[in-house]
Amino acid sequence: MRSEVFYRIMATFYLLMVHSNSLTEAKVIGVNYGLLGDNLPPPIHTISLLKSKNITRVRLFNPTEDVLQALHNTRIELVLGTLNQDLQPLATDISFAFRWVQSNVVPHANAVRFRYITAGNEVIPSAMQNYVLPAMQNLKSALQVSQLPYPIPVTTVVATSVLGTSFPPSSGEFSAEASHIMTPIAAFLLQNHTPLLVNVYPYFAYINDRKDISLAYALFNTNEVVVRDGELEYRNLFDAMADAVYAALEKVGCGSVEVVVAESGWPSKGNDVANVGNAEMYNNKFIRHVLGGYGTPRRPGKSIEAYVFALFNEDLKPAGTEQNFGLFYPDMSDVYPVNFNAI
Ligand SMILES: *[C@@H]1O[C@H](CO)[C@@H](O)[C@H](O)[C@H]1NC(C)=O
Repeated sequence: MRSEVFYRIMATFYLLMVHSNSLTEAKVIGVNYGLLGDNLPPPIHTISLLKSKNITRVRLFNPTEDVLQALHNTRIELVLGTLNQDLQPLATDISFAFRWVQSNVVPHANAVRFRYITAGNEVIPSAMQNYVLPAMQNLKSALQVSQLPYPIPVTTVVATSVLGTSFPPSSGEFSAEASHIMTPIAAFLLQNHTPLLVNVYPYFAYINDRKDISLAYALFNTNEVVVRDGELEYRNLFDAMADAVYAALEKVGCGSVEVVVAESGWPSKGNDVANVGNAEMYNNKFIRHVLGGYGTPRRPGKSIEAYVFALFNEDLKPAGTEQNFGLFYPDMSDVYPVNFNAI
C-alpha cells in the first residue's frame, strides 16, 4: 500500500518534471542565418554573436561547412535545409540522399544538435513540388541507416501560399493546386510525429491587402479583438495566419501535426511601412508572443516554436525591403534592440 502511494507520488512528480521541461524547451526563439551577403562576418564571430544574445536555435538554408564547424559544441540547435535544386536528385536517387547525409550530417551529428532536416523551401506550389515528399522519404531512410547518435526528424518548409483560403482562419484550406501534394506530406508528418515548417509573414499579407488589413493588427500593435471567427477572437494577424494553416491541416485529417514558424519578420527599410520603428515593434512583440507561451486561439497554450527572419541584412538580395530584414548589420551592430530572453 505504502509503496503504491510512493510510486504514485513519484510518477506524478516525474510527469510534472517532464511537462515543465517540455514547456521550457519549447519557449525558445531562433533566427534564420542567411548568407546572401558579401560583407557578412565569419561564421565563428556570428556564432559568438548568437551566444551573446542568448539565441539558442538557428536555421541554415543549405549546408555550409564553415557554419557547421562553428556550431560544434555550442549547444545551439540547428535546422538544416537542402537546396531547392537538390530536391530532384534527393527524390529520385537514394544514393544522392545517402551522400548528402554522409557529407552534411554524419561528420557533425556528435557535436551539433540537428533539430530538423528540411527538404526544400517554399517550392509548393511549383514545378518542383512533386519531388518534396520523395526527397523527405529518401532523407529519412538515409538518416535511419547512418547510425546517428539520435534520430533527426525530416520535414519541409512551406509558404502560406499553400493555402487557397485563409480567411476567416477556420476556413483555412490547402489550394486545389497544392492539396494533392500537401495531403500526403501532412500524413507523413503525422505518422512521424514531425511538425510542418511554415513561413508566416503578416508583413506580406498586409502590403498585399492594405485596404482590408490594419497596420496595427499586422504589427501586434493593438489589444482589440479585430477578427471574430465563431468562438475565436483574433487580436493579431500572425495568429490568424498560423490558425489558417492549422485549419487546413485539420481538413486533411492531420490536425495534430504541429506548425513550427520557420520564418517571420519585418523589414526595417524600403517603403513607407518598412522602417526601423515598425520592424522593432513587430519583431519584439512577435518574440514576446512566442515566448509568452500563449499559443494561438485555435491552439491555446500550445508553445509556438519560431525563427525570426533574419539575422543579418543581406546585400546580395534584390534591392529594397528584401535586403533589410536583418536584426543586425553585417558589422554585428543592432539595427534596433531585440530581446531574446525568455519571460
Ligand atoms: C542571457 O541570459 C543570461 C542568463 O539568463 C542573462 O544573465 C543575460 O543578461 C542574457 N543576455 C542578454 C544579452 O540578454
